[in-house]
Amino acid sequence: MDLSVELLGLKFENPLGPSAGPLTEGLENMRFFNSNKCGVNVSKTISVLGADVPKPCIAGTTNTIYNCELWSELHSDVWINEILPTIHAEKKKPLIISAGYHEEDFRNLIPKLDPFADIFEISTHYVKENLAGIVRSIRENTDKPVFMKLSPHVIDFLEFTKIVLDAGATGIVAINSLGPGTAIDLKKRSVLLAENIWMSGPSIKPIALHRIYNIRKAYPDIPIIGVGGIGKAEDVLEFMLAGADLVQMLSSALIKGRQLYDKIIKDLPAVLEKYGFSSIEEIRDIRKETVFKDVDTFVDNFPSFNDKCNMCGLCVRICPAGALSAEETIVVDKEKCIHCGLCESRCPQDAIFGVLR
Ligand SMILES: Cc1cc2nc3c(=O)[nH]c(=O)nc-3n(C[C@H](O)[C@H](O)[C@H](O)COP(=O)(O)O)c2cc1C
Repeated sequence: MDLSVELLGLKFENPLGPSAGPLTEGLENMRFFNSNKCGVNVSKTISVLGADVPKPCIAGTTNTIYNCELWSELHSDVWINEILPTIHAEKKKPLIISAGYHEEDFRNLIPKLDPFADIFEISTHYVKENLAGIVRSIRENTDKPVFMKLSPHVIDFLEFTKIVLDAGATGIVAINSLGPGTAIDLKKRSVLLAENIWMSGPSIKPIALHRIYNIRKAYPDIPIIGVGGIGKAEDVLEFMLAGADLVQMLSSALIKGRQLYDKIIKDLPAVLEKYGFSSIEEIRDIRKETVFKDVDTFVDNFPSFNDKCNMCGLCVRICPAGALSAEETIVVDKEKCIHCGLCESRCPQDAIFGVLR
């Protein structure tokens, strides 16, 4: 099964890479992703000075990572003189260099990072103004593709996209972590980590898909890297159907371990086959005719039941309109049914059809 992706003249063996964060900090971590099965390597966000990160800075639950980490704690000289030359010499796959944050940082940094980068990815997480000026300060110092990374607290993300593209950016990475938020540790009667924390992992996946889908709809031809909540091979397919050309993952690997990258890539062929795709590129080719087609057509259909129904009764218990009852079979009260689709989405047997798109 062909998992490869071609983008901007670069060939990626598969679409998955790490996302900027603690797993891509420093030489040993960068070497790990240079050698594992990922199709692309990504650095931690490099700024001129190393960040002074409040500790502790990462906590996790089954579906969510909370963090108050900043950019790389290493001075940019360490990246430029030691880490990036070593990775470049040992290079096995394209490298995305993440950098931040302000015009003066980029005028200093981009020329020094440029020899090592195939693509630049620019964090805008702490940027409040001058987005266009920031993009121009990068563009003036490199001919490489420049992807601006969208944070989900940017409400007008289409305006963000327009501003950065008009100023010379090549594409978008969506999304950074969600927040700021606060979590309370009930047992310790304190705030978890810090007052302002950022959330990521499977719990933010619908928000990432929303941004990717809507940016793709508005800009059918720009390159998009999707990130936010990926944790299994099925997610990679969903992100690509929604509009991503490449994908990244961090939090699920923090929750389960970094072996997850190779597992997802190993699982991809079987999952592609299960959903009837013959390659990753096929998803990019067909999404215009599938997921972006007729999305505004709504229908009022009643649920139908196939012979997989084992009368478990879940649909009867959860129907918000009280329209289903268990008799010899499940009976639909057509006066009461509101055509919402919940029963079909929740049926454990896949026995209900006809309501959802
Ligand atoms: C601990 C931690 C540190 C992060 N550091 C960075 C960073 O330095 N630069 C950046 O652009 N994004 C950073 N992120 C955001 C991730 O790269 C990613 O966009 C976000 O977590 C959503 O993806 P995920 O759900 O797969 O983790 C960080 C996220 C976490 C959890």
